[in-house]
Amino acid sequence: MNADRVGRRVLLGVNVDHVATLRQARGTSFPDPVEAARLALEAGADGITVHLREDRRHVQEHDVRRLRATAGCKLNLEMAATDEMAAFALDVRPEDVCIVPERRAELTTEGGLAVAGNESTLAPLVGRLVDAGIRVSLFVDPDRGQVEASRAVGAQVVELHTGRWCDASGDAAASELRALREAADAAVRRGLVVNAGHGLTTGNVGPIAALPAMNELNIGHSIVARAVYVGIGEAVREMRRAIDRALAGE
Ligand code: PXP
Repeated sequence: MNADRVGRRVLLGVNVDHVATLRQARGTSFPDPVEAARLALEAGADGITVHLREDRRHVQEHDVRRLRATAGCKLNLEMAATDEMAAFALDVRPEDVCIVPERRAELTTEGGLAVAGNESTLAPLVGRLVDAGIRVSLFVDPDRGQVEASRAVGAQVVELHTGRWCDASGDAAASELRALREAADAAVRRGLVVNAGHGLTTGNVGPIAALPAMNELNIGHSIVARAVYVGIGEAVREMRRAIDRALAGE
């Protein structure tokens, strides 16, 4: 067993966007992402993540407000770097905001945020959120330049995009994992908290959970998909066990 991992806990944030996707598909009031969040928390999730997209394709503002009012729910709001979203976040006051790039035509968040090169627009927006006591995370590709720029604009957290690693195999996967490890280590050296997410499943989460710098994993699609078969509580417990197995070096 790796001594570095003993007693370490990696937090699990459960993204319930796709519970809302199912609801919106029929314009009903069910399934309710807030009820799913409550069950996920009961099953051991450390927090709940939702992405309020510009096109409101899944989660709605009232969902975020109801999650905010849910006892014991550490809320991570993913949002685009717009004034409209910043005003909403300042009104709702989630514990965490994760700023993500957003394109209307994309199926999901496709790549990391271009922080480097956009410092002058991001720094004031990050500053307003941080001044209000919200912890700000930037969703970036595992790239040193993006990590350094994230620190420079005042973010306290980087969430590393694991999508490319999840899609890769063989040598390409090894090189993506190396990039994730190096970006995570660089972030920690700069005093940033390191989270990660995108495309993670019980089958691939191990190497990411085991990265020494890892603080929290935000996982949605695979948990909600698994919940169709076994229920969301069991899907969350399965993910928790997969993360803990990796930390135990199994
Ligand atoms: N983190 C961020 C910033 C995301 O945009 C997403 C997708 O909404 C996730 C994590 C979760 O990804 P997945 O749904 O593939 O688990």
